[in-house]
Amino acid sequence: MLSWLRRRQAPLAPAGKLEPVAFAALFPAFPTTRVTLERLEECIGGVAMIELGYLAFLARWLPAAEVFEIGTSQGRTTLNLALNLAPGGHIHSLDLPAGYVPEAACYAPAQEVEVKHLERAAFLKPYLDRLPVTLLEGESTSFDFSPWFRRMDLVFVDGGHTQRVLETDSRNAFQLIKPGGLILWHDYTQPACPEVTAFLDDLGRQRPLRHVRGTRLVIYQGG
Ligand SMILES: C[S@@+](CC[C@H](N)C(=O)[O-])C[C@H]1O[C@@H](n2cnc3c(N)ncnc32)[C@H](O)[C@@H]1O
Repeated sequence: MLSWLRRRQAPLAPAGKLEPVAFAALFPAFPTTRVTLERLEECIGGVAMIELGYLAFLARWLPAAEVFEIGTSQGRTTLNLALNLAPGGHIHSLDLPAGYVPEAACYAPAQEVEVKHLERAAFLKPYLDRLPVTLLEGESTSFDFSPWFRRMDLVFVDGGHTQRVLETDSRNAFQLIKPGGLILWHDYTQPACPEVTAFLDDLGRQRPLRHVRGTRLVIYQGG
């Protein structure tokens, strides 16, 4: 009985090497900020509900934010970021071209099985004509991000979950942000994505990265 209870109460994210920090300690306005969330049904491979809330908050908190997301999938994070942008904000979201057969090196194995059959941007399509969203297609390690360099307030990295893809995506993320911009990565400490945890633990030795407590998010706040 006790072991069942312990399993049930296990924290969402087991310990990694990065320092965990409460989201509200980073963003004191979070507890009193109202955000809009939609399409909260089960979403395979998608972020957890509290992570969606944190992302929505950031979209609302940053004035007229320009956002770049790597990994649209069904578009639930794209939708909820877009719903919370202040007027003038915009989100650009990249995923593999339809029908693209990914190299195994793009995905973490568990996700390869799960996400490749999902309809791209399905959650987002009914809203596309009224939300400031641009859907982009390309494989992120060969995609030309340079037109967006130094323009982004927030970059969300949730595409391929292998070392090779993470290295390129993260290098691009640091070039995409404006001074003071934010980068968030997903799937830190996710058992199915060990390369994400290893990669971010390693990157954390060169950059001030924080693990958002109780989540699989890691955040970088540019100076
Ligand atoms: C975990 S899903 C994103 C989930 C989404 N952020 C959410 O929570 O709603 C990862 C997505 O990244 C895409 N992806 C994987 N490797 C990629 C690559 N090298 N370039 C572009 N997109 C990639 C996959 O096709 C998949 O749709």
